[in-house]
Amino acid sequence: MTLTTNFLGLPLKNPILVASGPWSRNASSIQKSIDAGAGAVVTETIALETGVNIRPRIFKNNGSLFNTMLYSSLALEQWENEFELIDKKDSHIICSIWGASPSEISYVATKVERMGADAIELSISAPIGAKNENFFTNPNDINKFVNAAVKSVNIPITVKLSYNASLSSSIASSIERAGALGISAIDSLKALQGVDIESQKSLMPTYGGYTGEHIRPISLATIATLAQFTSCELSGIGGINNFKNVLEYIMLGASTIQIASAINLNGYGLISQTINQLENWLIEHSYNNINDIKGVALKSLVPYEDIPVKNLKSRVLDGCTDVDCAKCYSCCIYDAIIKEDNKPKVIKELCTGCGLCVQMCSKCFELVWE
Ligand SMILES: Cc1cc2nc3c(=O)[nH]c(=O)nc-3n(C[C@H](O)[C@H](O)[C@H](O)COP(=O)(O)O)c2cc1C
Repeated sequence: MTLTTNFLGLPLKNPILVASGPWSRNASSIQKSIDAGAGAVVTETIALETGVNIRPRIFKNNGSLFNTMLYSSLALEQWENEFELIDKKDSHIICSIWGASPSEISYVATKVERMGADAIELSISAPIGAKNENFFTNPNDINKFVNAAVKSVNIPITVKLSYNASLSSSIASSIERAGALGISAIDSLKALQGVDIESQKSLMPTYGGYTGEHIRPISLATIATLAQFTSCELSGIGGINNFKNVLEYIMLGASTIQIASAINLNGYGLISQTINQLENWLIEHSYNNINDIKGVALKSLVPYEDIPVKNLKSRVLDGCTDVDCAKCYSCCIYDAIIKEDNKPKVIKELCTGCGLCVQMCSKCFELVWE
């Protein structure tokens, strides 16, 4: 069984990449991901202008994070020194870069290629700060930026998109036309953690990037959609916590995945653990190659308009023991569930088969053909 794959023309030992962020901020942090077995590591975003680390800058809510970080606080020259210190072994370094104009992108791209980057990830739509706001809605601008990078270097380019930018087929095709081989999706979502209603102040001092497990469903849908309308290779990013999430992304058409917040929350050990568990799953399921499962779940997705309306209705199962839990009565907005003889009862004429009672309590309900 092999996890080897090819991404942007790079032969990777596995499809597990480490995403751009402060866990890839310098040589020693990048080395930790390489030593943990990552197929490739994406650096924190490198720009001509250095980023400022405001304090505090990371806020946590269950399994998700809100961050107010823009790009690397190291200057290009410092990155040159860091590169000298990295032992790439059999891994690869993808430099995430940002520029305020096509000529700046071209300059930074050339620099990182000379430093030894194996590929470039263009970060064009981070939701933090005001600088990116106008770029990501305009396919022509994106085309110019991407083309500037493609023309300047001989290494492959992937473009990292926000959720908003990923929804546009004209943006995806402008990236393809500009010569990029990949799309990495998604970047953080623009978000606010909440408001302290007593002090009447925002919990965060500025808009931040929302990341972690709660964004996974959004990113999975984005990758599935992109897989169906672009020929670019895809790197899935968003809420990847374990090997099962890796499989979900690959089954929906991603060639590689990138882990971000989960490393911040759990440490670099998560990388080797995920690789081992992924390997075991593939062996247990008799796959010889990770690529055998690429995109396999896409055929189970059909357009909404093509889904036949089945005559399904809810039925109460014998397993219902807690009649007082009342979850089923409360969630049925069709008034189809009532309490009779101390048990829930479905009024068939009112049940529209929405399925929510089964989701609320699979012990008590099932959907059956009428
Ligand atoms: C603290 C933090 C810093 C980040 N910095 C960058 C960055 O410099 N460049 C970039 O392209 N993405 C950056 N990201 C976004 C991640 O690479 C990734 O796209 C996002 O976190 C979604 O993945 P996740 O849900 O697994 O965290 C950052 C995310 C976090 C949480």
